[in-house]
Amino acid sequence: MEGVWGPRMFKEYFQYKGISFPRLIYSEQGLREVENEFQVQDDDVFNVTYQKSGTVWMLEILSLIHSNGDPSWCRTVPNWDRGPWYETVLGLQKARSNQAPRLISSHLPVQLFAKSFFQSKAKVLYTLRNPKDVFVSLYHFAQIFRPYKEPGQLDQFLEQFLEGDVPFGSWFDHVKGWMGLRDQENFFWITYEELQQDLRGSVERICQFLGKPLEARALDGVVENASFQAMKQNKMCNFSLAPGFLLDQTQSSFLRKGIAGDWKNQLTAAQSENFDRIYREQMQGLDLSFPWDEP
Ligand code: A3P
Repeated sequence: MEGVWGPRMFKEYFQYKGISFPRLIYSEQGLREVENEFQVQDDDVFNVTYQKSGTVWMLEILSLIHSNGDPSWCRTVPNWDRGPWYETVLGLQKARSNQAPRLISSHLPVQLFAKSFFQSKAKVLYTLRNPKDVFVSLYHFAQIFRPYKEPGQLDQFLEQFLEGDVPFGSWFDHVKGWMGLRDQENFFWITYEELQQDLRGSVERICQFLGKPLEARALDGVVENASFQAMKQNKMCNFSLAPGFLLDQTQSSFLRKGIAGDWKNQLTAAQSENFDRIYREQMQGLDLSFPWDEP
């Protein structure tokens, strides 16, 4: 008989309020604590995304802004300690023990987020990315991230993604849920594509939201050290320090291509059209436009 930690257990998911989570790094108890007991502080800054939308990029940007463009912190402390994912079992402990002002990352859908956030002045930065690129990035990530099930054939995984049958649920629900907060002054949103197009201008906007303007040299420091090349070389954010039981980087890497529009190389015309149809259905009525929307 297979032991508790046999290979199947390794990739098992459980459901929490209708959303799948991999058992290896999440627990029902941890999610309940995050939702109901976690004490959000007014000076907390949350880096929130649907997975594969630029989480670690934004985390690096926020860390560098915090350090006035000085890369020392980013080069000496792993990103998961600087801005822990508080819904993971280990991240919750870290988030609780980190000193204020805390930087906290999360992929949680809004309905599972810490309730105390909604009575606080804490800030959320929500980063979105073209969902076709999110899907392609996730397809590759699922092949190297051991807590996730093997994605199988792309076509089959695409169907699951579009139905929201993946960890963290539907991209559409995540985006619609979080964007419901867009009129609140403690909520800021930006896209991966804007970061790509104008990193400096984006950092300036982020600084303005945080109420932390930077001088030109500090801004240079943020932009230089948050580039894809700089991040690839920094072992504190390129996941080369991640244990092998979590990430198998022999096939692909966490910082894979770092471009916008890779979906064009990976999806067939039929897959893309099907995606567009579901996107239109799901997003209709939402008074928002994104860089990837057709004019
Ligand atoms: P790709 O798989 O398309 O390369 P997350 O951090 O939310 O898991 O997202 C990971 C994606 O963001 C990966 O996309 C990764 O390469 C990309 N990324 C991370 N840092 C980046 C940077 N500095 N510039 C551009 N893309 C970056």
